[in-house]
Amino acid sequence: MSMPRLGQGTWNMGDSAARRKQELAALRAGIDLGMTLIDTAEMYGDGRSESLVAQAIAGMRDKVFLVTKVLPSNASRKGVVRSCEASLKRLQTDNLDLYLLHWSGSYALEETVRGFEDLLAAGKIRAWGVSNLDLREMRRLGAVPGGKACATNQVLYNLSRRGIEFDLLPWCQARKMPVMAYSPVEQGRILGHRTLKEVAPRLGATPAQVALAWVLRQDGVVAIPKAGTVAHVRANHKALALKLDAEALGALDAAFPPPRKARPLEML
Ligand SMILES: NC(=O)c1ccc[n+]([C@@H]2O[C@H](COP(=O)([O-])OP(=O)(O)OC[C@H]3O[C@@H](n4cnc5c(N)ncnc54)[C@H](OP(=O)(O)O)[C@@H]3O)[C@@H](O)[C@H]2O)c1
Repeated sequence: MSMPRLGQGTWNMGDSAARRKQELAALRAGIDLGMTLIDTAEMYGDGRSESLVAQAIAGMRDKVFLVTKVLPSNASRKGVVRSCEASLKRLQTDNLDLYLLHWSGSYALEETVRGFEDLLAAGKIRAWGVSNLDLREMRRLGAVPGGKACATNQVLYNLSRRGIEFDLLPWCQARKMPVMAYSPVEQGRILGHRTLKEVAPRLGATPAQVALAWVLRQDGVVAIPKAGTVAHVRANHKALALKLDAEALGALDAAFPPPRKARPLEML
């Protein structure tokens, strides 16, 4: 089983009737370009993001690598199954490619994993994973029965959030577990940074493309930018072909230094 390296996020999509047409067009343009991994969650707009995704992928479910997430407050063994069934209904499909625990909460990981296993056995999901788990929690997960089947950890990773490079990322890479980088352009906040604005034109690119190419520069990292317009989706797709040279990487390291010691995992 493999995942596309560049997908599409959908947080804050599906909430506005005025933006709906544009958002549907953006998601469909991304699928046409091969950005077929679509990431959503039961939490996003209380299911409205999943409903938008259902409309966007209607008639092409088999082209899409569909990912959604269960809230920690629903992550008991039975709750995971109930939430998944509700997500499947909103997504108008009968299975997910990947189902994630959104972050760890009060239910024991053992319980949640049992729920995921029930869903696998019923053919409702093809794989499961987690999100926002730090290294200590990943080690704990690895030790629970069935926990080693975790397919990914989706975490905050971008130029301004490099903490995972110190420990979590190498740990996942050593296990060939892909990391899904969320908020890869820091929700737009880094795009006005002076260094990005200096590096981008020299490479014939935009700051967003440089920021995405930087996230995608290493093996085992998948990026899921959210773009609400076709123009942004097309621009993001070009990041796949953008190579950052040593000069660009050096300038970016100087402006956004890598971690020198372990840091608590950041979340948005
Ligand atoms: N697991 C978790 O806890 C978690 C947390 C956060 C996010 N996520 C997932 O990760 C996805 C991405 O993260 P995010 O939505 O937080 O932030 P993001 O992808 O870093 O940034 C989205 C923002 O960047 C803008 N943008 C996108 N492409 C652009 C481009 N080419 N040029 C200029 N601006 C551009 C978008 O504007 P437009 O909308 O106008 O295009 C939007 O305002 C989410 O949608 C969600 O699926 C998961």
